[in-house]
Amino acid sequence: MRSMTKILVVYYSRTGFTQTLAQLVAKSCHADIEAIEDESVCGRRTNPIGYVCSALEAILHIKPGLRPGKHAPADYDLTLIGTPVWFWSLSSPVRSYLEKHRNEIRKLGFFCTYSGSGQVKVLKDLQQLSGKRAVASLAISDAEISGKQYKVKVKKFVAQIDRALGPPDGQDGP
Ligand SMILES: Cc1cc2nc3c(=O)[nH]c(=O)nc-3n(C[C@H](O)[C@H](O)[C@H](O)COP(=O)(O)O)c2cc1C
Repeated sequence: MRSMTKILVVYYSRTGFTQTLAQLVAKSCHADIEAIEDESVCGRRTNPIGYVCSALEAILHIKPGLRPGKHAPADYDLTLIGTPVWFWSLSSPVRSYLEKHRNEIRKLGFFCTYSGSGQVKVLKDLQQLSGKRAVASLAISDAEISGKQYKVKVKKFVAQIDRALGPPDGQDGP
């Protein structure tokens, strides 16, 4: 990964899968990392009521309030945004984040985690909501993360980002 490019990884994770992926992506890209923290009426999303509430937020495209973040996408050349799939949709905190920050984001990439299906739609939704073409995107299932196969996919994702960013300033390509 080119040293001059500033990269921010931003993600929401309810049960840790997206966080595991975000941490590896950030390490591989030498990026800063930020977890999105929301102030939803759902309260603790990890209990059964929180699950149902999160599902409703995703289905109804409700955008929970967010706590202020430490990093601003405007300070980065590339922002990589990660979300779990919630009812074939993106997670509500990531919807809030994208709506709030999409105009500050320069270049953009996406990753999502899922248990069974909906990942293709979510990557498309992310693209549409952001209004920008992603330099790279990645979907990884919970089974792949648990089985550690995701590391190969992350390598390919990072290589795709590297190619999309082109040669470092002042250098011509091959
Ligand atoms: C409310 C809710 C809805 C979900 N809907 C889907 C879905 O439509 N398709 C799917 O494959 N996984 C679905 N999942 C599973 C998560 O996408 C998957 O477990 C993901 O890796 C969780 O990421 P996290 O651990 O970072 O929260 C859903 C999970 C929740 C909590």
